Amino acid sequence: MKISIVGGGYVGLITGACLAEMGHEVKIIDVDEKKVNAINSAKPPIYEKGLEDLLIRHSGKNLTAGSDFSSVRDSELSIICVGTPQNKDGSADLGYIISAAESVGKELKIFDGYHVVAVKSTVPPGTTTGIVLPTIMKASENNSCIGFAMNPEFLREGIAVGDFMNPDRIVIGSVDKRAGDLVESVYSGFNTKILRTGIVSAEMIKYASNSFLATKISFSNEIGNICKTLGIDVYEVMGGVGLDHRISPYFLNAGCGFGGSCFPKDVSALIHFARLKGTDPVLLESVLKVNQMQPLVIVDILKKHLGSLEGKRITVLGLAFKGDTDDVRDSRAIPVIEALIADKAEVHVYDPMANKNMKELFPVIICHESAEDALKDSDGCLVMTEWPEFSRLNKEFDTMKNRLIIEGRRILNVPDAEGICW
Ligand code: UDX
Repeated sequence: MKISIVGGGYVGLITGACLAEMGHEVKIIDVDEKKVNAINSAKPPIYEKGLEDLLIRHSGKNLTAGSDFSSVRDSELSIICVGTPQNKDGSADLGYIISAAESVGKELKIFDGYHVVAVKSTVPPGTTTGIVLPTIMKASENNSCIGFAMNPEFLREGIAVGDFMNPDRIVIGSVDKRAGDLVESVYSGFNTKILRTGIVSAEMIKYASNSFLATKISFSNEIGNICKTLGIDVYEVMGGVGLDHRISPYFLNAGCGFGGSCFPKDVSALIHFARLKGTDPVLLESVLKVNQMQPLVIVDILKKHLGSLEGKRITVLGLAFKGDTDDVRDSRAIPVIEALIADKAEVHVYDPMANKNMKELFPVIICHESAEDALKDSDGCLVMTEWPEFSRLNKEFDTMKNRLIIEGRRILNVPDAEGICW
């Protein structure tokens, strides 16, 4: 099938490359010339395991990129994959969605085939039918040959290709059967559960999924904080909880909380949406509140040991929101560094990939190219990201002035490390 992907960012690029791998003819549309050139020259603009191989195999063949929307008319399906960043009030910014819908609609003004527009971006429930559909119908002058669907993604950063090619389920919401059938045919090669549903339900499944995963994490962290007062190991406790098949062992790892470009944004957007609808999302608000407070627990432990942090040299190992990425968006290291700077500590940092990105947020931090260098003469060390190389550290901690090690992620193999909630 000929498919247009609107938006060559994280979701659009992975979706386009994987659909090309499945034999479809894909055109990724993005206004960013640099990104377009990178895709066409098989040089992925983002790091994702397996992505470069896909681009090498398909770029210039059945995967191309460009900034014009003319391919929409030549394709049967347009998948909108643009970003929905968070507004200051927590709501989702739908500016890119509206602009994409207008551009797609304009291309379909003179079109007499059948074309489906599917939204893959994470959008508040009601957006596809309430905003995308009318915008496209207006721009296309009410062309009746257009179907609408919503097909959310469940991709984790760093392992997105694997997640796309091995989904737990494929959710397809549609206005009518014909539109849903066309989208379902795109995934005919998959051996997984395909859930056909209404469009608003599909939008809500995405928000509810991410919010529930975030809830599991905040729940584990709250149990961890209680376990710490008892001197018991939350990993032992949640390991026992996770043996219940109704709960599963996944996403029960207590630590310094969740970051990334999705969980915080999506839970905030759902809270905002719930309030707009006149409900009171107290549980979701608590999930965010626990997550906002959790990183400061590790700073409190540091202060319990050191007293005032003024003039102290504190090392932060790990800056990215999780391992295997340079992405620091909503990283739990951010509130920790903020608190350290506010307490006038001298902050030394090391992250295998994210030094540069965090330095842009905090110019005053001192970046090092190795954990050992960052630890030298340090009064205390906080571990904030589960980088595998940290699990091999031990003698490096001996270069510290004071061997005080507190880990916010369960990653170290040293007997004298204290855990944030273990
Ligand atoms: C998440 C969802 O997993 C994915 O399905 C959705 O499409 C996008 O958002 P991502 O944000 O890339 O993916 O990363 P994920 O691996 O889910 O981790 C998110 C955050 O939660 C990280 O900061 C991680 O450290 C933290 N986390 C994860 C925990 O603190 N405990 C856990 O048990 C799992």
